[in-house]
Amino acid sequence: MDRTEAAKRDAARQAFDLVEQDSVLGLGTGSTVEAGLDHLAARIAEGLRVTCIPSSRRTTAAAAERGIGVVDLAEVGQVDLCIDGADQIDRDHRMIKGGGGAHLREKCLARIARQRVYVADRGKLVERLGRTWLPLEILPYGAQFTLQAVARIVGTETRLRRGAYGPLRSDNGNLLADCWIDTLEDPAGLDRTLHAVPGLLETGLFVGFVDRLIVGDPDAAPIR
Ligand code: A5P
Repeated sequence: MDRTEAAKRDAARQAFDLVEQDSVLGLGTGSTVEAGLDHLAARIAEGLRVTCIPSSRRTTAAAAERGIGVVDLAEVGQVDLCIDGADQIDRDHRMIKGGGGAHLREKCLARIARQRVYVADRGKLVERLGRTWLPLEILPYGAQFTLQAVARIVGTETRLRRGAYGPLRSDNGNLLADCWIDTLEDPAGLDRTLHAVPGLLETGLFVGFVDRLIVGDPDAAPIR
């Protein structure tokens, strides 16, 4: 394991150390969250009682591999803590997420969680959000028209995400898409504007979600 991976794993472990006894834990999606699941499994084996709510099938599978059971969000009345990763984070803790296509559920989970902790390696920290593809989730019905409306707003390229067998769908059965973002002056404003497009279900812009940020430091991480 190289220093960056070790730093990511150590930062994720710190996040999972915050999980309290008899709490409800939201699990984001991605390699950063998964880097901490062995530690969560170890804490559960030592007696931690926690109800885990996944944000994706990917996370459900990663938890199951470690013997961690999950419960559907529909089954619980509150979420105490949500732990997740990010693709970009700026100085004001505004984020772009959704590289893994789970941003709709991740945002639902984060919005209701009492505390939101995000974990990132240094490479995710940016001066200003942008120069990247912004993830979107859109309704299949009228998808081309939705993307045309998005293109008019952002003034750049949009694309449907495609896999080997055609357009990629989210766990919700919707289409995954992206629009190119050069520089982003007002992420919250763009999020609001995009949400006014019928058929656009969610963007990967997360503004006002970070209660605590844990950054992995490759220089401090021991190589194991
Ligand atoms: C999933 O859709 C994303 O929002 C992830 O949370 C984000 O992309 C971070 O992923 P990694 O931890 O794999 O970098």
